[in-house]
Amino acid sequence: MKSPADDGFHSPSLIEQVADAKRRHDEVFGGPAQWVAAAPGRVNLIGEHTDYNAGFVFPLAIERYTVIVGGRPTAVVAEDRVRVHSTLLNEAAAFALNRLESDRKDWTSYLRGVMAGCVERGMAPGPLNLLVDSKVPLGGGLSSSAALEVATATLIEAVTGHTLDPVEKARLCQKAEHVYAGMPCGIMDQFSSALGAAGNLLLIDCRSETAELVPLDDPNVAVLVINSNVKHELTGSEYSERRGQCEQAAKLLGVAALRDVASSQLEAERGRLDPLLYRRARHVVSEIERTLGAARALKAGEWPLVGELMYASHASLRDDYEVSCPELDVLVEQAHEVGPAGGVIGARMTGGGFGGCIVALVRSGREQAIAEQIGEAYQKRTGIKATAFVTKPARGAHIVER
Ligand code: GLA
Repeated sequence: MKSPADDGFHSPSLIEQVADAKRRHDEVFGGPAQWVAAAPGRVNLIGEHTDYNAGFVFPLAIERYTVIVGGRPTAVVAEDRVRVHSTLLNEAAAFALNRLESDRKDWTSYLRGVMAGCVERGMAPGPLNLLVDSKVPLGGGLSSSAALEVATATLIEAVTGHTLDPVEKARLCQKAEHVYAGMPCGIMDQFSSALGAAGNLLLIDCRSETAELVPLDDPNVAVLVINSNVKHELTGSEYSERRGQCEQAAKLLGVAALRDVASSQLEAERGRLDPLLYRRARHVVSEIERTLGAARALKAGEWPLVGELMYASHASLRDDYEVSCPELDVLVEQAHEVGPAGGVIGARMTGGGFGGCIVALVRSGREQAIAEQIGEAYQKRTGIKATAFVTKPARGAHIVER
């Protein structure tokens, strides 16, 4: 299910992707493309499982986009008919705008959920033929679903001429994920895809839903993403279980969210939590502190400290929050072994966990060599082939053509 570009070390250009997707649209539907929207995936540098605790996250949008090309049907069709074709899955589907809800949970859930949110807001797009082309690896923890949701909302903006406030758009997409895909996610992924800014990380305060742009402009530092290419099928239930444990811990500590607890306070009130809830809370509370610390260190160019905080984040996710897996641990261990001498500043798992990717900050010029070195050791230890790419912080969702 991978297109060759998914294995490329360097990112495919959005211009080429769009040209190709338009051609495919016209081939599949036999009619002219009229609108094009793009939305990126994201990688989270630090701040994991903190968004639904009203805390801070520190992601960047990546140079891997989901592109949607839309056109009107050439033949006369019902006013509410939407046909979609996915190049990645090589699958076609159709649904009606006045019957978007369905028990079916598949890739169209994301499109249907977002369209329901748009229709609710008076943005009914009318009959459409949509071609979906994604370069965000599926199941890699890089928010391929958020990219699909935000690209859908952006395409509907292009079609209707109605612009959503970007934060409102992120919320609409998050709701689609909750209700239509059944995944009780936080706001990070949709926010990053909708509000990503070229050259910048986003320090998102998930309580106020506001973001500070933090430039990643040191020419000596690059972002390397390594995919373990494993996905353990636990994510759905484990994610909501963790969320529930955090809510329970917050309640027992008498606060609205774990954001409201400092490490010192957690230690003082440790007796109120059973050992498991205590460890879950300790991860969240310390991760929020690490995230703010990493943002400060990054702004000051204190790279060794940023690296240290990334490794500490990984250890906390592995030991206290228990959302890592052996393959991710091996990748991070190997990155640590390459170390500063080999050009690795820091590394950690990124995204929900149980597989997917690690993110590493590395010295520019060393990216490919580091990826190869880690990949070889990983294959030796696990028998699995990793894939890797470098990315700069990318521009968020936008209308490419209208
Ligand atoms: C998934 C969710 C996000 C966030 C991360 C963990 O990606 O969609 O909202 O909770 O996991 O940080």
